Amino acid sequence: MKLNVNGRDVEVQSDPETPLLYVLRDELQLNGAKFGCGLGQCGACTVMVGSDAVFSCLVPISVLAGRRIRTVEGLGTEQAPGPLQTAFIEEQAAQCGYCIAGMMMRAQALLERNPAPSDADIRQAMNPNLCRCGTHMRILRAIRRAATAMQSSPRNGAQT
Ligand code: FES
Ligand code: FES
Repeated sequence: MKLNVNGRDVEVQSDPETPLLYVLRDELQLNGAKFGCGLGQCGACTVMVGSDAVFSCLVPISVLAGRRIRTVEGLGTEQAPGPLQTAFIEEQAAQCGYCIAGMMMRAQALLERNPAPSDADIRQAMNPNLCRCGTHMRILRAIRRAATAMQSSPRNGAQT
């Protein structure tokens, strides 16, 4: 079937009931989203479908035809990181880094629907995503920093 990932139409061969996470990693070599629990309990696999953050370990590709899928790779590149990526680097938000792609995608969904979130808004939105290293305070600071950067240059947040 055909999927649209980071603005690109791609043909995939996996069984339609395969969870999106495996298709991204194994077929499309998009390894940003991580396998943590496979049960919708950790958020390491978070990507965006349309305007929502979803657990890609739980979503079969059969329901994704015609939907816009976005992964952390769509937020920017190594040479030109997007505002969330830049903010996470500037705040040194990653320790082991395993949760970070999922954190960024949930934050991206938040900032698209609420460009100026309060601390309480950020905490509530990010609640489904866990960080075993405990860098939550730096992650919160990075999201606040990205929100400010996106507001001063709104197109920043709208890649792919
Ligand atoms: S791997 Fe998907 S929520 Fe943990
Ligand atoms: S930085 Fe290690 S799990 Fe979050």
